[in-house]
Amino acid sequence: MRAVQDELRVTSAAAGRAAERPPRPAELAVIVPTFNERANVLELARRLVAALDGIAFEVIVVDDDSPDGTADLVRELALHDPRFRCLQRIGRRGLASACVEGMLATAAPCLAVIDADLQHDERLLVPMLEALRSGRADLVLASRYLDGTAVPGWAEQRRLASRLATRLVGALPRLRGLTDPLSGFFMLRREAFEASVRGLSAIGFKLLLDILLSAPEPLRVVELPYRFRERREGRSKLDARVAVEFLTLLLDKLVGAWIPARFSMFAAVGGLWVLVHLAVLALLHRGVGVDFLPAQTLATFGAMTFNFALNNELTYSDRRLRGARWLTGWASFCLVCSVGALANVGIATVLFLRDTSWLLAAIAGILVGAVWNYAVTGFLTWGSRGRGRAATR
Ligand code: GDD
Ligand code: MN
Repeated sequence: MRAVQDELRVTSAAAGRAAERPPRPAELAVIVPTFNERANVLELARRLVAALDGIAFEVIVVDDDSPDGTADLVRELALHDPRFRCLQRIGRRGLASACVEGMLATAAPCLAVIDADLQHDERLLVPMLEALRSGRADLVLASRYLDGTAVPGWAEQRRLASRLATRLVGALPRLRGLTDPLSGFFMLRREAFEASVRGLSAIGFKLLLDILLSAPEPLRVVELPYRFRERREGRSKLDARVAVEFLTLLLDKLVGAWIPARFSMFAAVGGLWVLVHLAVLALLHRGVGVDFLPAQTLATFGAMTFNFALNNELTYSDRRLRGARWLTGWASFCLVCSVGALANVGIATVLFLRDTSWLLAAIAGILVGAVWNYAVTGFLTWGSRGRGRAATR
């Protein structure tokens, strides 16, 4: 009874506050993913307010618990201007998934994504919104390459990588004709987002690509040109890991319906495991003449540590274990894999003793061990127990 009364009181208080709220609900939600952008956030806010004059908008900053305190600053800002909000995620990382969660946290019919570092030109937001309003497009993409402008301040390496990646995905039928399918600056209608949200991989940086490829029907896309600016404060988070995530995203879009991307990655890393394992085994058994059983055992354990380290960097880069957790993770991985290794050595030995060739016997052992390892380490080593506490960079 008491609880209900309390609740009623809370609800009526909330209703009272709602009556004071500005009557216009946001037409446009601007989603801003951030990681260590404290030095840019206030300037971005100032520019957004100026650029979106006269438009009912809200800004949702999705921050992955930046060590520099970006989230606190955004909340301070929100106390002065309620059009700004902070969505803080703890123990998670990822540009694309941050944007998805920001979009899910608003009711606005038009959804934009813009980087916090002022590289994207916020003055393009109004023309983008107009293109959506006109009904010409489901999605408007701000292109760095439409009018041929080069990106200033990029090292030759990054320029080439961007071109190469754009070419690569440009071959996909859905993306043909687009000059910048890898842009991080775009706006779309809520229906278009909702139609594809359950099919999204939400891996890495390329949410736009993900949306275009996941939409049940091809989206009508309009491109508008802008000049990609140089980052002034803070550092880019695009690194080797982001490149790996890009490949994982493509893999997931291509074969994800049948095989989860994480398994593909685990299998690829496992492919290297096979190489390391077979090299050690061949060296010991065939080369030095060590008996099959100890050689197979040594090869299994040597490859195991290598495998843990690589999976931690690549396959589970979003839950990457660091410091003390790297050690406990390694221990649990070894423990699980030891059981896998027992099965591996057992099956291989049985086959070997039944006159199966040494190579086939080893491969059969590896296969059984690998399936067990994937299933159990996914749960124990990098699973939900560790999630939330996994170190973020
Ligand atoms: N929440 C969250 N989590 N935000 C992140 C994360 C993350 O793990 N990683 C990066 N961000 C934020 C950054 O703080 C910044 O606001 C934005 O995402 C873009 O990150 P940058 O590190 O500046 O990326 P970039 O400039 O190299 O590349 C960006 O622009 C390109 C051109 O539009 C990305 O958006 C690319 O995907 C895009 O192609
Ligand atoms: Mn940037």
